Amino acid sequence: MVPAISKKERLLSEIRKQVEQCIRCQLSQTRTNTVFGEGNADAVVMFIGEAPGEDEDKTGRPFVGRAGKLLTNILHSVSLKREKVFIANTVKCRPPGNRAPKDEEMQCCFPYLEAQIAVINPTLIVTLGGVSTAFLMDEKISISKIRGRMIEWRGGKKIFPMYHPSFLLRYQSQKPGSPRYQTWQDIQEVKKTIDLVLLAGNGNE
Ligand code: URA
Repeated sequence: MVPAISKKERLLSEIRKQVEQCIRCQLSQTRTNTVFGEGNADAVVMFIGEAPGEDEDKTGRPFVGRAGKLLTNILHSVSLKREKVFIANTVKCRPPGNRAPKDEEMQCCFPYLEAQIAVINPTLIVTLGGVSTAFLMDEKISISKIRGRMIEWRGGKKIFPMYHPSFLLRYQSQKPGSPRYQTWQDIQEVKKTIDLVLLAGNGNE
């Protein structure tokens, strides 16, 4: 039997079609594929990274390269599957040479992300790394200072910044106080939020 498509999934696929045709900024000229994002349309938590890299540009899927494998393992460490959350980026197209997306590119692309957030309506938005954190908070602040804090965002939602998995790839230590250890603490907070929301019956998983 073909599974029924929910209203949220239908709305997301409409936004996806717009993204696939997008030529709003210069990144559209050099991309192979747009990277819309993927996961559960009813996710309690959305993870928002920086921008697609080479592997993501090739496959059209977010976080599938080395950093993506680490993200998947971080999720698995608290028994979370990628399919249970929603994973996206601040921009849908790969910046050439994997440079950071420019502010104007993130602004240009934001209506798509905003629409995704509006449809999915997550309780928590985990920003991965300084770029997506600064962009969504509209404030430049060091990720090491702000990670692991719940921050009110747009009345009703919360942003929870974490280190970007690419940054973590540079640090192997898992000792208390290390970035990997802090990330392990952070993902446990994320899991607690998901469990609380589901317990309260406000999630649809
Ligand atoms: N880094 C990101 O920020 N996003 C991806 O999708 C992959 C790597």
